[in-house]
Parts: sequence; structure tokens; C-alpha cells
Amino acid sequence: MPARVVITGAAGQVGRFLAGEAARRGHDVSALTHRQWDITDPDAAQRFVAAGDLVVNCAALTNVDDAEADPDAAYAINAVGPENVAHACARVGARLVHVSTDYVFSGEQRHPYDIGDQTGPLSVYGRTKLAGERNVLAAMPDATIVRTSWVYTGGEGNDFVAVMRRRAASDGTVAVADDQTGSPTYVKDLVNALFEVGEGRISEPILHVANAGACSRFEQARAVFEELGADQRRVRPVSSGQVARRAPRPAYSALSMTTSVRAGLTPPRPWRVALAEALAQPAGGGQLPSTP
Ligand SMILES: NC(=O)c1ccc[n+]([C@@H]2O[C@H](COP(=O)([O-])OP(=O)(O)OC[C@H]3O[C@@H](n4cnc5c(N)ncnc54)[C@H](OP(=O)(O)O)[C@@H]3O)[C@@H](O)[C@H]2O)c1
Repeated sequence: MPARVVITGAAGQVGRFLAGEAARRGHDVSALTHRQWDITDPDAAQRFVAAGDLVVNCAALTNVDDAEADPDAAYAINAVGPENVAHACARVGARLVHVSTDYVFSGEQRHPYDIGDQTGPLSVYGRTKLAGERNVLAAMPDATIVRTSWVYTGGEGNDFVAVMRRRAASDGTVAVADDQTGSPTYVKDLVNALFEVGEGRISEPILHVANAGACSRFEQARAVFEELGADQRRVRPVSSGQVARRAPRPAYSALSMTTSVRAGLTPPRPWRVALAEALAQPAGGGQLPSTP
């Protein structure tokens, strides 16, 4: 494993957890927030990346509706930014792991998407993330793309599980879409996989990382309530069409890890098992290592 782990987007959900875990594992960590390293600045990367580093690009414009409203910004951050990072890594001889998304798929398939399946993003977010994947591999063919989906901490943030956890602890009902299916991914499991990839022994250029199995958002919300002993009937199903949102989402974007496991990644645990572990942690962000 490289001596130093360099993380972009380090104040975000994945970057923050990764930075804490890298420090816990004894790595020298350079965790850089948007303010410290703006990946859209083509000259910035050379200040932060050195030979032998493992760079994990967690920086992205992830708000799917904001991306739809501002395609130029989305393209700059999700497509050009990763290319800048890749050029810098290739130039100095650093390893690069770039995080991407299930939203590169259209959602028309009804079995989990594996690496070789046809992409077909529906939204600006998905299209710009797909362009980012291609730009990274063009600039640095030995970089690794890790696509993940429905990532959560379950702690105090604004991820889906954290929000449902707070709803479970309060009163009233909550309406959740029952027509979007995906693979929930506990950030801890994603980060463990990112370290496996970072060791550099897996040669596939694109990998999928998600907990095993698939569910709808409605089923996921009910599972949160069930784990916490709250009344599951307080979670009501709605169709996503009843919630006005700017960007389309794929109706089905579960990820298959079949090829990724064959390539060397540890098989994923079932999403319910990972969820139970996440919810057993203190809600106040206790499972999140502190921001370095
Ligand atoms: N969360 C999910 O469910 C999910 C699912 C699939 C894939 N992913 C992928 O996982 C990766 C990490 O996502 P996340 O969940 O950690 O998202 P996040 O919490 O939104 O974090 C993204 C971080 O990137 C930063 N950022 C934005 N523009 C930047 C720029 N120009 N330069 C440097 N940093 C910039 C943001 O900072 P500011 O907020 O200050 O702008 C934020 O801290 C992304 O590639 C995302 O596409 C996430």
C-alpha cells in the first residue's frame, strides 16, 4: 500500500470517511477539501500529488438536480476535473482511484448492472460522470474507476439512511418512492473496497462496489424503521412522479459485483446486514471518523 493517501472532496460523505479510515490504518493522509484543491483548476493538481501516492478522487457535483440546472458546472466538476487529476497522477507516477456512479445506467434493465452492461445515463449528472470515467481512462489507462450506488453513513448527515433514522425517531409518516430500485452501499464497505483497489492488484479498469441485493427506496426506509424498532407503517409508498424533481433518476440501477469479485474484490455482504451494523452505531455521527 502506498505511504500517502491523497483525497479530493475530503469534506464530502465518502471523502470524510475515507480520510478517517486511512489515518486509522496508519497512512499519511492528505485530505483536501474543495476550498483547498479545486479539481477544475488544471494547474492545482501538481501542487498536491507526488510519485507513489494513492489519489482517490471523491470530488464531484453530486446533487443530481443541481447538476441538471447547471450542466456547465457539472461537466467542469464531473468530467474535466477528474481528467485534470488523472493527468497529474500520470505525470508524476501516482496511482488513481476515481469514484463513479450507478447513474451511468439508464435503468431499463431488470437485473443488476455488471461492468460490461450498456451505459445510457438519463441525467446531466449521469452523463457528466460517464464522461469523467472516459476522460480518466483516456488520460491514465491504468487508473481504476469504482462505480458505487446509494451510499450512506446512517449518521448525522443528509444521506438517505441518516434522514430516515431521524424520521424514525420523530412522529408522523414519511412518503418514500417505491418505484426506484438500487443497491444500498454502507460507506464503510465502500471504503474497505477502495483500499483493496488502492493496493493495485486488480487490473480491471472499471469495478462495481455495492452491498449485495437490491431494494426500493420504500423498502430501504422500512428496513431502517424495522431495525430501529419504529412502526414501519409510518413509511408510506409513493410513486416518484408524485415528487417534483428536476432530474430524471433511473428506475432500476442495482449494481452487480460478479465481475468485480472475479477480478479480486472481497464479495459484498447483504445490504440488510450492513444496514444493521450502520444503525447499531451512535446516530450523532459516532461511526464517522473525525475530519482530519
Ligand atoms: N452518495 C451517493 O449515494 C453516491 C452514489 C454513487 C456514486 N457516488 C460518487 O461518490 C463520490 C463521492 O460522493 P459523496 O457521496 O461523498 O458526495 P458529497 O458528499 O457531495 O461530496 C462531494 C465533495 O466534492 C466536493 N467538490 C465539489 N466540487 C469540487 C471541486 N470542483 N473540486 C474539489 N472538490 C469539489 C464537494 O465540496 P463542496 O460541497 O464544498 O462543493 C464535496 O465535499 C462522487 O464521485 C459521487 O459521484 C456517490
